[in-house]
Amino acid sequence: MDDKLKAFYELYDRRKSVREFDPSPVGLDKLARLLTALQRAQSAANRQPWHFIVVENKDRDALNGCLTKDGFKTAPIIIAACADPALAWVRKADGVNYAWVDAAIAVTEMIGAATAEGLGACWIAAIDPERVKQALGIPGRIDVVGLVAVGYPKAELAREEKNRKPLTEIIHHGRW
Ligand SMILES: Cc1cc2nc3c(=O)[nH]c(=O)nc-3n(C[C@H](O)[C@H](O)[C@H](O)COP(=O)(O)O)c2cc1C
Repeated sequence: MDDKLKAFYELYDRRKSVREFDPSPVGLDKLARLLTALQRAQSAANRQPWHFIVVENKDRDALNGCLTKDGFKTAPIIIAACADPALAWVRKADGVNYAWVDAAIAVTEMIGAATAEGLGACWIAAIDPERVKQALGIPGRIDVVGLVAVGYPKAELAREEKNRKPLTEIIHHGRW
């Protein structure tokens, strides 16, 4: 494996959910690159059926009231990932709407970028979406897919063994 390839896989090995943050700010350059990662993500039929609300620590009274874990409240940035089902591609065969898939893909790309930048991040799906909508003025037709806390991790992101199902349990060759 050459060095570039090693660096790519090492990035995904290093990524883990960060739930305790250092209060230091993320920096405008880094934030701009994270937001560009969201913008550039792939989506079904390139519909880009998403909106992202970036909420800095200083503006977070209302949103922090929607969080249960204290560690997330000190994250310098929380991004609300929203999906607009009316804009998304819908699979004809069964009517499945891909808005949430698209929004989740964009967040995944952004978390990869955050890891490369030396930042930590964590998805927060355990929220009351109606409360979050109220706190952030999100229109009723929009779905809140989740929040993502972003910032410098309190502890260094060291590589550690991931608790995952074995490949033999989840990969099927040829047929189920
Ligand atoms: C869609 C999604 C929602 C999640 N919601 C929460 C959450 O509400 N609270 C939390 O502490 N972690 C949440 N997580 C983090 C997962 O618990 C974590 O990804 C999983 O345990 C694997 O650990 P790792 O990310 O460190 O590899 C969420 C992750 C995903 C992908």
